Amino acid sequence: MSNQPRHIAIIMDGNGRWAEAQGKNRTYGHEKGAEIVRSITTYCGEHSEIDRLTLYAFSTENWKRPKLEVEFLMKLLEKYLKSERSTYLDNNIRFEPIGDLSIFSKSLRNVIDDVQKATEGCNALTQCLALNYGGRDEIVRAVNASRENGAITVESLTNALDCTHDVDLLIRTGGDHRLSNFMMWQAAYAELFFTKTLWPEFSADELESIIKKFKTVERRFGGLN
Ligand code: FPP
Repeated sequence: MSNQPRHIAIIMDGNGRWAEAQGKNRTYGHEKGAEIVRSITTYCGEHSEIDRLTLYAFSTENWKRPKLEVEFLMKLLEKYLKSERSTYLDNNIRFEPIGDLSIFSKSLRNVIDDVQKATEGCNALTQCLALNYGGRDEIVRAVNASRENGAITVESLTNALDCTHDVDLLIRTGGDHRLSNFMMWQAAYAELFFTKTLWPEFSADELESIIKKFKTVERRFGGLN
């Protein structure tokens, strides 16, 4: 039987370069990037072998960006979740955030909470947005939360993470070959695919061709076959 990409995780890189190449502000790239989030999520929701799509939307390191860009991204996230609330429901897609949300504004936290609760019963796909997320931060928080419970095991630590699901297929757009602190634990046995395509130009067709390649890979998980 071929591999099924049950959990796909994507590092959505290249918004800024895409916009600058057209002589536009970087924020224009993020706006276009949000449209691609919508279309890739819809594609995954229509393919029953995909259970979970985790998207790196804002990292613990992204606060280092210029204040105006950070503010724009915060507003864009809030706008996206508000406007897509009905799309999640219409397409039976559950929304889940991961990351340390405590730093966000009350109004953004309220929208996150609202969409999460409203979509709790949806089961075609879980779209997970990584928000103020860093793999190291996630592991440190999980270890601290588990300290009182005796020796930590792989299973107990996994269960204490924001995301308890192994990643099958990890994709990074934008041409770089690194994980940038994304899904450090969950990607232990993920198949990694890197594409030069900038996120605003990524498409369901390209995702489909990556999935096709993924299905031909022999995954041994440290065994022989
Ligand atoms: C990386 O591109 C992208 C981000 C840091 C933000 C990702 C945000 C989006 C895709 C849009 C908003 C998301 C949602 C869910 C509404 P970059 O800015 O680092 O691009 P560059 O490498 O070309 O500079």
